[in-house]
Amino acid sequence: MTSQPHRTFVPEVQSALTQYTVETFVHEWPLQATIMADAQNNGLPQISLQPDEGWMIYFLLKSIHAKTVVEIGTLAGYSASWIARALPDDGMLYTLEANAKHAEIAQTNFEALNLSHKIELIVGNAHQTLGLLHDQYDAVFIDADKESYLNYLDWSLQHVRSGGLIMAHNAFRGGDIYHNPDDVDAIHRPALIAMREFNQRVADNARLVSTILPAGDGLLVALVE
Ligand code: SAH
Ligand code: DHB
Ligand code: MG
Repeated sequence: MTSQPHRTFVPEVQSALTQYTVETFVHEWPLQATIMADAQNNGLPQISLQPDEGWMIYFLLKSIHAKTVVEIGTLAGYSASWIARALPDDGMLYTLEANAKHAEIAQTNFEALNLSHKIELIVGNAHQTLGLLHDQYDAVFIDADKESYLNYLDWSLQHVRSGGLIMAHNAFRGGDIYHNPDDVDAIHRPALIAMREFNQRVADNARLVSTILPAGDGLLVALVE
């Protein structure tokens, strides 16, 4: 059976209804739409958010009047562009990226989109660079190495304010999430085990009200009480 966890969306949820919703509701800037096409030309993986997922994050951040957000996993800056758009001009997104080439491309995109005044890109392994961020933030968006999601959750629980949001991409793990890890290819097993444990830990946390919004590859959202 299984398993193409490298898909950023699951066909079952990427339906004509999604297409209708995107066409009707999602106001993506033309320059945002070019980010992932350019990224592909530069050899970057096509694993960014889908537009409907980006719009949901934008919606959620607006709804809590977010001013400061931390993102883990920048890639070419597509999700960051949605986050930064949701912030007021004196807001700040701290986005963490380990890969120097990804970071360079992302920074170019932030400048082209006129969003760079609201984005601080921090290059390095998030396991170290999260240690540079000491404040309380309005939201965290987790979208990097799946095996580290539990660590990122622990950090988020200490650094997201009451009333803030913890969000995470790939909660469906390309559609594999309800499979027994023994049934998927060994190469995908550690990430699947990690995502299952991450989802369960969030669901069981009494401080969080949480669910998975079934867009793209699953957007986990948790409100910190
Ligand atoms: N959020 C992006 C997609 C991120 S893809 C979007 O939707 O547009 C995952 C990114 O996380 C990759 O660029 C990868 O280099 C980065 N990454 C993986 N492990 C990391 C780590 N430990 N610290 C920082 N970045 C990491
Ligand atoms: C992978 C990572 C992602 O963040 C994503 O959206 C899709 C796939 C991966 O590493 O397989
Ligand atoms: Mg992802």
